[in-house]
Amino acid sequence: MRKSEIRELLKLTQDPEIISFAGGLPNPKSFPIEELKSIVQAVLEHHSKIALQYGTTHGIPELREMLAERCRKEGMKDASVDNTIIMTGSQQALDAVGKIFLNPGDIALVGLPSYLGGINAFRSYEANLIGVPLDKDGMRVDLLEEKLKELAKQDQPVKFVYTVPTFQNPAGTVMPEARRKKLVELAYEYNFVIIEDDPYGKLRYDTVQVKPIKTFDDEGRVIYISTFSKIFVPGFRLAWIIAHEDIMRKIALCKQALDLCTAPFTQYIAYEFMKRGSLDLHIMKICEMYKPKRDIMIRSMKKYFPEGYVCNKPKGGMFAWVTLPEKIDTEVMFLDALKEKVAYVHGKAFCVDGSGGSSMRLNFSYSTNEQLEIGMKRLGAVIEKKMKEL
Ligand SMILES: Cc1ncc(COP(=O)(O)O)c(C=O)c1O
Repeated sequence: MRKSEIRELLKLTQDPEIISFAGGLPNPKSFPIEELKSIVQAVLEHHSKIALQYGTTHGIPELREMLAERCRKEGMKDASVDNTIIMTGSQQALDAVGKIFLNPGDIALVGLPSYLGGINAFRSYEANLIGVPLDKDGMRVDLLEEKLKELAKQDQPVKFVYTVPTFQNPAGTVMPEARRKKLVELAYEYNFVIIEDDPYGKLRYDTVQVKPIKTFDDEGRVIYISTFSKIFVPGFRLAWIIAHEDIMRKIALCKQALDLCTAPFTQYIAYEFMKRGSLDLHIMKICEMYKPKRDIMIRSMKKYFPEGYVCNKPKGGMFAWVTLPEKIDTEVMFLDALKEKVAYVHGKAFCVDGSGGSSMRLNFSYSTNEQLEIGMKRLGAVIEKKMKEL
């Protein structure tokens, strides 16, 4: 196990004067506090005997059924209460998947860049993580195929491919349908499992026509993971997995050892929130809040950053990925940024092969609109100064 670089960096950004684009936090103003007060009251009144007791490992059936139904409507044909399990955050799901599939030295393929929490979870099982580059449309499935061919020639099986196909963390990319289908075909051909991590799919600010990879899966090779963290509240630590029943059995076994069950109390709160029809309305409100933030960040980038950077406007999610001219090392520049009271996460932290040295991830969901503009102005000045020095 290694220290999480992001956590270490975040410690440096505690100074309240620093405008931090480093974290990956939802905006606390989006939390539906008033509605939660009445829901908590209702849960205590109507479900307290179950909600305050230990629960089953799979989670409360009412919530699983609702989640399965949502996923069936999205096109996941086999989603049912039996192959849906509630997890204590998708981070727990990623750890469980690592525990089940990875023996030391086993190969798993991940994006370059990839979600750091996923990388850390898989590393803790001593996986051999191999990176597959991304372009503006997410993971380069053509390069993935080349890698798979090469590994097959060396008789090296791949356990799984880990991907965040929709509004990726950190790159903000969306994998188009053709790539999604091709990825599933490759999984059949080369006998691996796809871990589809989808926390951001519902946070859409522009028209994007994509369905989860799981909807193209007829063999049960896709493990679909999603979470309430970004569409409701992260503090409840609620996520869910939809997977083939054979995999589900292993996940349940694994979860028994991890925490016996996810807190039934928060599960009931989420269930009640969904039953009242509040979730979709709430997602709309979050999108209304984040879209202008995304726009301010991108507009300010154009206004304050010197020429020479590349950033594809993210159509959803919470992050913008910026790549500066190669000679700039964003890890080194981070200290300059802190001096100017602005923070980001340097790109190398997300890349298993040490690439990403001139990139950075910027979060736009957490800051106020005013902070976004001021922070981007500060960051632009830091970059400009750095460019002149080199
Ligand atoms: C891609 C991705 N997966 C998983 C997680 C973990 O989310 P959760 O709060 O559900 O554990 C995050 C959180 O930022 C994420 O960005």
